[in-house]
Amino acid sequence: MRDAVNARMHVALNRPAVEYSRGIFGHFIEHFHRQIHGGLFDPGSPLSDERGFRTDVIEALQEMRPEVVRWPGGCFVSAYHWLDGIGPDRVPSYDKAWRVEDPNTFGTDEFVEWCRAVGTTPYICTNGGTGTAEEMSDWVEYCNLPESGRWARRRTANGHPEPHAVPYWSIGNENYGHWEMGAKGAEEWARLVTEAAKMMRRVDPTISLLAAARADLDWTLPLLRSAGQYLDYVSIHGYWDDLQDEDEPSDYLTCVSRSLQPEAAIRRVEDVIGAAGLDGRVAIAFDEWNLRGWHHPWGSSPEAIGARDRNDENSTYTMADAVFSAGFLNSCLRHADTVRMANLAPMVNARGPLYVHPDGLVRRTTFHVMSMYATMLPPEIADCSIVADTLAHGGTDVPVVDGIAACDAERSRVVLVLVNRHPEQPMSCAVELGDGPLTGSHPGTVLAGDDPDAYNSVAAPRRVEPKKETITFEDGVTWLPPHSITFCEVSSHTAPAVATGEWSVGARGGWRRNA
Ligand code: AHR
Repeated sequence: MRDAVNARMHVALNRPAVEYSRGIFGHFIEHFHRQIHGGLFDPGSPLSDERGFRTDVIEALQEMRPEVVRWPGGCFVSAYHWLDGIGPDRVPSYDKAWRVEDPNTFGTDEFVEWCRAVGTTPYICTNGGTGTAEEMSDWVEYCNLPESGRWARRRTANGHPEPHAVPYWSIGNENYGHWEMGAKGAEEWARLVTEAAKMMRRVDPTISLLAAARADLDWTLPLLRSAGQYLDYVSIHGYWDDLQDEDEPSDYLTCVSRSLQPEAAIRRVEDVIGAAGLDGRVAIAFDEWNLRGWHHPWGSSPEAIGARDRNDENSTYTMADAVFSAGFLNSCLRHADTVRMANLAPMVNARGPLYVHPDGLVRRTTFHVMSMYATMLPPEIADCSIVADTLAHGGTDVPVVDGIAACDAERSRVVLVLVNRHPEQPMSCAVELGDGPLTGSHPGTVLAGDDPDAYNSVAAPRRVEPKKETITFEDGVTWLPPHSITFCEVSSHTAPAVATGEWSVGARGGWRRNA
């Protein structure tokens, strides 16, 4: 093997692999600007079905195989009352979080029906701001109880005799933040979550429960000490290019220089879970994440509301977004034993992977990243190490190549994911698979675009697309194109037998390390 390479990866196929959760290929949709109304829900559009669901949107989203979708917020849910969005007599509400009117025409029944149409799992986030424990548990009753009680009867009366069977529920959203309606102190939050979780589990003991948390001991330790016994996950959020007040998206290098920040946050939360003595019992849900924070300067003037249109500007979403997002997913996969859900925020319009306009769609760069990860990876993450040259920018060094390897239980199929963060230069990467250098030519898929700032738009919707390519290793080394994500499929590899069955899904739908 050559000595001077930019990166070296070793995949230890003889060591145990971890079955990752497909929940990390999740998404988030909020009642914000054109995500739902005028996005996925558009009654009257010639592209919508009789329920008002845009069928072209449903078909496109299916290409990403979204595992789970979180709804209805976000900040929106901090003052949302679910009863306003069910039944025949709905009136619009003023949405205090976003300072606009919500028509309430897309509520719980529509969300669950839409999830069924897409083929994804519904995840409901409850109002932990102005809501009560009782309101949250009533919502579980409405969705999940077969027949007893007033709320299950109400669901039946609304045309849904079968339970909606919503498996994932979270208590609150960012309730630590002053921006949230009904924000709380840490002790107050711990009490509310404990009582809400208890009541929600009384209604349906099978649900998986999450609660709003952060990578911070002062907030999350009291929460876990009080409510940890009822929780399957802590929910954390991350946006790494803050554009709330000024929509001036950072350039390619600034974005990729932040690539290590998600993993640092994961480690901090793992430490807090460990400090609470809940290692292996409470997992992490990164249930809002995106490189680009949403633009919403505060104020209810028409200008402030109109400024939200800037989120829809397709030129914002370049190969920087793709390369950063691949690094994010690699970080989750490296922590596959603790990160069991992640939701790209949002799914449609604003900063989302799919841009929807009245006549069609644009698959942005992140759409292709999510599709590649969700459809091409075998189910386990192999033990893998990688060392690489660094890319320096703005006082920060990041490895110029990042990589993970996924495999099936038999190790007969291995998929390498190799990310070259360099904006201009190809990088050489040596790969050892098991005991020897990887050789030969293998089928691959590469997402690169023609420029680090390349993006898709209405005028050029296919400028950035994954391409099928043959990935060749000479003397154990392959070359990765600049600003690229390469999936390399290595099949029929004969590997030594390994110990399996070390990890399993817990009885409550969470996860447990086997004794
Ligand atoms: O900017 C969008 C918001 O970001 C979401 O509603 C909230 O959860 C997060 O702060």
